[in-house]
Amino acid sequence: MPSTRLETEAIRQRLTTSRLGRSLHLFEELASTNATAFTLAGSGATHGTAVLAEAQTAGKGRLGRHWVSPPHLNIYCSVILKNPKISRHVSWIPLVTGLALAEATRRSCGIEISLKWPNDLLYVEKKIGGVLCESASQGSQVSTCVVGFGVNVNSRETDFSDELRSLATSCFQATRQCYDRNGLIVDMFNQLESWYDCVEAERFDHVRQAYAASCATLGRNVQVTRVEEETIHGTAVDIGKDGALLVSTVRKGRPHILEIRTGDVHHLR
Ligand code: BTN
Repeated sequence: MPSTRLETEAIRQRLTTSRLGRSLHLFEELASTNATAFTLAGSGATHGTAVLAEAQTAGKGRLGRHWVSPPHLNIYCSVILKNPKISRHVSWIPLVTGLALAEATRRSCGIEISLKWPNDLLYVEKKIGGVLCESASQGSQVSTCVVGFGVNVNSRETDFSDELRSLATSCFQATRQCYDRNGLIVDMFNQLESWYDCVEAERFDHVRQAYAASCATLGRNVQVTRVEEETIHGTAVDIGKDGALLVSTVRKGRPHILEIRTGDVHHLR
């Protein structure tokens, strides 16, 4: 079965959310859905508005990377969050987004997805999706959060460069089946709203437990690289109260627990 087109009506009809994805903008091609979501947010788009594109010409990844976004195969989406009760817990947003996407992809495609802290979606150690959260503040308060996510659904090996082929995969590559992206997006929006509701209700013990159960980083030896800071080696032992990754390491000859809030985590063998 060839990859079907995204259709706003097919998505709207099956949504069970109250806000998320109810206002939906679908484009054939954009530079970046995150950039367009920020523009829409600035001109009055409401909480829960979603932007989808069939292709991106300048898809943005974390840490300034490029997100490969070929047409009509995958999901490239950004959601606008304008609820201050959610935005005040901004450190949890990337993690619950990863969790919601992993649950929806597992359910819709029947494949075992795990998470690399903070929010990479992995299938057997290869990256199948990622999340880029960007926020705008007014004073010290986050006023708008744009949550962008890309999930490789129907892309083939040949859609990736030689360099990416050993690192990235897709649902199609995992199962040799083509998936209806409209159904997958519906599941994703439903899951996202229910996890953002948990953040709003400050049910952090529940969030932490569910995240930890899906997180492949815990228990692993890791290397963490951070901008303008030393590279760390240690064992990922837990998730902190605000979603930080707790890494057990040795400092000045003594055991030490470091709280990692930003950076690139690499799973070591
Ligand atoms: C990562 O590096 O893992 C994050 C990738 C996020 C990519 C998505 S695709 C839709 C949205 N728009 C963008 O420009 N980036 C995000």
